Amino acid sequence: MLSYSGSSDYDHKKVTTLRLSEMKKTGRKIVCLTAYDALTAKIFDESGVDLILVGDSLGNIFQGHSTTLRVTIEDTIYHTKAVTKGAKRPLVIADMPFMSFQVSADEAFRNAGRIMKESGCAGVKLEGASNPILKGISRMNDAGIPVMGHLGLTPQSINKFGSYRARGKDPQEAEQIFNDALALQEAGAFAIVLEKIPAELGKKITEAIEIPTIGIGAGPHCDGQILVYSDMLGLTVEFSPRFVRRYAHLYDVIKEAVHVYTEDVRDHNFPSLDESY
Ligand code: KIV
Repeated sequence: MLSYSGSSDYDHKKVTTLRLSEMKKTGRKIVCLTAYDALTAKIFDESGVDLILVGDSLGNIFQGHSTTLRVTIEDTIYHTKAVTKGAKRPLVIADMPFMSFQVSADEAFRNAGRIMKESGCAGVKLEGASNPILKGISRMNDAGIPVMGHLGLTPQSINKFGSYRARGKDPQEAEQIFNDALALQEAGAFAIVLEKIPAELGKKITEAIEIPTIGIGAGPHCDGQILVYSDMLGLTVEFSPRFVRRYAHLYDVIKEAVHVYTEDVRDHNFPSLDESY
């Protein structure tokens, strides 16, 4: 049975970007999960999670799409508002949806500001490190909008790459990812998600930059780890890449509970008189 027991290691202070950078310095791992609603966010807060990402994975997990591309700014604001209601201690970061930050630095800046202002989150995340994106990050940084980068496998580029294979396995791609990490740091990002890259590359980047790295399939050397919550809780059963560890099997638990409920209702076992007025 795995449960958070209120260890003395846990600190109850509100998590800030400054706190994350201190955690990198002291070697305390940064614990991150995705969430898309208030109830789940509250449970993760009470379980000691440091950072909650309202990932555009909500397009897959919540909306049932096959990619993240159809998520809109309105969807992001809606879900992030709910998460900020439920999560008090963790840093809440909203993922900028596809085409909300690629057109120009100006548009990215405006959209990031709108997401923060309307949802109450503490910062945004965006994928990639092209020049217009770096320019956008600098402007956000100047205006006090904390930005998290995302390198390696970037799901919004699925139609360009054609698959969700690991990135940075060949030296040229590895060098590009490494240089992009330096560029994101230079532009003012406060942390970088590294997705599905070799552990050695995750280590090299983590050692080379001063801002925290958050790994998902990027090995054990990153400063923190993130997983999509429905994967680690065993709600998504068909998706099982090597980097997902299942800490529960909620798909089966929920199915069994709902099955018993359907039987109780059909067999006139629910509600009883004790459960009535
Ligand atoms: O959208 C998302 O959930 C993400 C995480 C996988 C990092 O970007």
